[in-house]
Amino acid sequence: MDKLPRPVRILLGVSGGIAAYKSPDLVRRLRERGAEVQVVMTAGAARFITALTLQAVSGQPVRDALWDEAAEAAMGHIELARWADAVLVAPATADFLARLAHGHADDLLSTLCLATSAPLFVAPAMNHQMWANPATASNMALLKDRGVTILGPGEGDQACGETGPGRMLEPDQLAELTLSRLSAERVLSGQRVVVSAGPTREHLDPVRFISNRSSGKMGYAVAQAARDAGATVILVSGPVGIDPPAGVEFVAVESAQQMYDAVHRALVAADIYIGAAAVADYQAPAVAAQKIKKSAEKMQLELVGAPDILVSVAALTSGRPFVVGFAAETENVEENARAKLTRKRVDMIAANRVGDGLAFDCDDNSLLVLWAGGREEIASCGKPELARRLVALIAKVRGSRRRTGAVAAVHG
Ligand code: PMT
Repeated sequence: MDKLPRPVRILLGVSGGIAAYKSPDLVRRLRERGAEVQVVMTAGAARFITALTLQAVSGQPVRDALWDEAAEAAMGHIELARWADAVLVAPATADFLARLAHGHADDLLSTLCLATSAPLFVAPAMNHQMWANPATASNMALLKDRGVTILGPGEGDQACGETGPGRMLEPDQLAELTLSRLSAERVLSGQRVVVSAGPTREHLDPVRFISNRSSGKMGYAVAQAARDAGATVILVSGPVGIDPPAGVEFVAVESAQQMYDAVHRALVAADIYIGAAAVADYQAPAVAAQKIKKSAEKMQLELVGAPDILVSVAALTSGRPFVVGFAAETENVEENARAKLTRKRVDMIAANRVGDGLAFDCDDNSLLVLWAGGREEIASCGKPELARRLVALIAKVRGSRRRTGAVAAVHG
């Protein structure tokens, strides 16, 4: 595990399947590995296992009610959601997974799963026919796409007397997988990351501007993934219609110049800069003080170059962070992105094909990531999952770059 200044906090959700009888053992295995565990049970789970047993093994009161006024005042679903470094639902029944996939919030466990920004792990446990059902399969695909980690299920004899995939993984395996995955996911622990996102608006007059269709979804997902990886994140964003992720410092800007200034202010002591914003290449030489009047059939717009933030960050001579740019390309994606990697002197470029309803303002995206001596394609998936993989790749390439640098310094 990462060197947190305290034990890692696992919120164990127990839903109503026969495998709930293994939950006390799972609590013990997690605690043996140094985790602090709090348990939340669903009403169904209480039919298989008592709260008293789980309280005894976890050393913490077990929570099961959303409408528990006394507890709500002290530690309601929001506090539980914030408390957790990770939420592990084991066993996760077919019904619980369906409710999770569709955003239900009708009991304490489903509500805190919606409210938490901590990584979510689920250990499915159900009859093999239920597991094979297309409804379950599509719920699992949805969850996976949103970045939920699915542990198992295992295969073998089932409580119903049948055999097949659907058994919950053994407690020891679950504890090991969760804690090691968590440690692997906190790849940017202690790092300071600045992310730019969204479009910029270049005003022509008090009511008109030039902008683009960036929704901010990609950049916000990157900021969230960096935060989940343990980084301290500053998100500098153009105007978008989505909320910034919790736990991230947020700076709202409008124009390319404002974004340039905000990014450079945020970069003090930053380790990584990720430019996901769709920044204007051109701006008006001056913003007209009054609304421009219609005076002729044709009008010619004169524009001048906007500051290139990415180039300016990559050119820093002191305190230069690891610089990751994006490339939005409608054609010759790899060739154009390679040219940008070199021309803008960045450490890494994440290229996406745009146009025809791709990348801009959609939930899914795919990336071709290039760096000196390397290339990796990340296939189409939801932006949160894509961002998680991109952040893992950034940490890996930066880490190996630093190790090589260290070797060069030793030999140099
Ligand atoms: O916001 P979404 O709807 O989720 O869409 C995501 C996205 C398509 C906007 C995103 O994935 C993306 O591709 N962002 C970069 C868009 C862009 O401006 O690409 P570019 O190829 O024109 O620019 C290359 C790089 O230079 C980018 O890192 C850009 O931030 C940077 N740049 C560009 C111009 C400028 N004046 N300053 C810059 O820093």
